[in-house]
Amino acid sequence: MAITGILSITYVTNDLEAGRQFHEQLGLTLVHASAHGIDFALPDGSSVLLRTEGSPDLPAPLADQDNGVREVCWAVNDVASLAALAAGIAVDRPVCWSGETECAFHDDAGLSVRLRLAQLKPISAESDPTNAPGRVERLNQLRRWYDRAIPLQMQHVVFSSPQARAQARFYVQRLGFRISDIQEEGGVFLRAPGSVQHHNLYWQRAEMTAFRHVSYGVANLDALMAGAAYMARHGVKSRLGLGRHRISSTFFYYMPNPCGGDAEYSTDTDCLDDHWVPRVWGRVFGHIWWLAQGREQEPEERMRMATEEDLKLL
Ligand SMILES: [Fe+2]
Repeated sequence: MAITGILSITYVTNDLEAGRQFHEQLGLTLVHASAHGIDFALPDGSSVLLRTEGSPDLPAPLADQDNGVREVCWAVNDVASLAALAAGIAVDRPVCWSGETECAFHDDAGLSVRLRLAQLKPISAESDPTNAPGRVERLNQLRRWYDRAIPLQMQHVVFSSPQARAQARFYVQRLGFRISDIQEEGGVFLRAPGSVQHHNLYWQRAEMTAFRHVSYGVANLDALMAGAAYMARHGVKSRLGLGRHRISSTFFYYMPNPCGGDAEYSTDTDCLDDHWVPRVWGRVFGHIWWLAQGREQEPEERMRMATEEDLKLL
């Protein structure tokens, strides 16, 4: 099955204390702290690692950023797949092994990529029975009350590049990622072969080669909005507020992260498998279905099934 999801991301930051405070407020669990870094854990066994610039063995920064995520480590669930992926990568670039279960290399954008033999823990958000006119799922039963959000897993990471399609091609051709959807004049949504998340990685077309955001999956909309309110009470404000993407259906709430880029609370994202047929979406039409702030003009509706030519990511 090979790559199953995000195992860790590594930020480089000059302000560890701000990073600690933000990620604790976000709902992550601090498991280790030292002068050079802080490790946070999520319930699926993944990690968010904050490091200072002076930490040993830090990967080089991406071309156009001085902070933000500098390395993504992907979980690979069997030894044979790890060996096969590494052998395929080693054809045209160095692959550095740490023992027999972990290796690192750079993708075509210069981002440090790590593969590690690991099993992400299965997680299961609590059920969310919801009443609606004429449909009763909750009778004589209070809703669960949420005080804040607890991220359960990292659902996706996003990087930008002027050559987003070329960057995506590397992950499809060399690491087995699937194309979920394509945004015209935008980017490419990619799903790890062992994941059902609509996307685990999005390469967004932009002038800068840089980290953009990481998505944290939370249980439901109540959890998301309780988390948003909790963060707002602690001085963290979202520029866009609550919205729903048309591509992937995700409820989103982005917040600026002092360690770089945004952190996103996400819930109710589409789940896909290999039966999914990718679409090509108009850039603006696919981006946002609705947004708390509203928008002055609805975008032209543009969406079509992807062709073989589209999927070559030319
Ligand atoms: Fe996102």
